Amino acid sequence: MDLPEGFHVNVKIEKASIADAEEILRIQKIAFESEGRLYNNLKIAPLVETLQDVIRDFDTHLVLKAVGERGEIAGSVRASVNEGTCWVSRLSVSPLYQNLGIGFRLMSEIEKCFPYVSKFELGAGNKSARSIGLYMKLGYVILGEIKKDNVILLRMGKDTAKGGK
Ligand SMILES: CC(C)(COP(=O)(O)OP(=O)(O)OC[C@H]1O[C@@H](n2cnc3c(N)ncnc32)[C@H](O)[C@@H]1OP(=O)(O)O)[C@@H](O)C(=O)NCCC(=O)NCCS
Repeated sequence: MDLPEGFHVNVKIEKASIADAEEILRIQKIAFESEGRLYNNLKIAPLVETLQDVIRDFDTHLVLKAVGERGEIAGSVRASVNEGTCWVSRLSVSPLYQNLGIGFRLMSEIEKCFPYVSKFELGAGNKSARSIGLYMKLGYVILGEIKKDNVILLRMGKDTAKGGK
């Protein structure tokens, strides 16, 4: 999608709060619509998540948002640590803001928020070339496969203690 004339991509990455939950969910749903179409399944987890689900995640996850100059939310990501591994999920960038490096920045920043963790893991649909490419650029490698919602998810991860970037 073309950007409006005079559009600048000066986003800040900030910690999100529950007050952002509704907008985060709205952008997540717009962002993941293309994924739903790619897998011919509009019931993948990010598309059927409810506002209550997102609000609940704030209890257990760190949620980051990318905020534009006008205060608009352009994207988000969340992560939680379980048994020493940081699980990253719901990386979403509004279609209008895609391919501008925001996904990369959200990922880099969320990793930095967990300096005591060396293992990071996430799931990426096996046909999602763009997100797989982005995660590989960030040093993630494919660890295995999980079948979920009739979609094959690649389990990707990196271990910074073992030389992952
Ligand atoms: C995946 C997503 C978060 C990426 O966000 P983004 O802000 O557009 O990503 P960035 O601009 O930071 O990075 C794009 C990178 O994707 C990769 N990429 C883009 N198109 C690609 C393609 N066709 N093949 C391989 N890699 C590709 C490249 O690594 C590119 O980096 P570059 O700057 O070196 O070209 C965004 O497209 C999105 O929200 N998609 C829908 C939801 C989704 O799929 N989330 C991930 C779930 S696992």
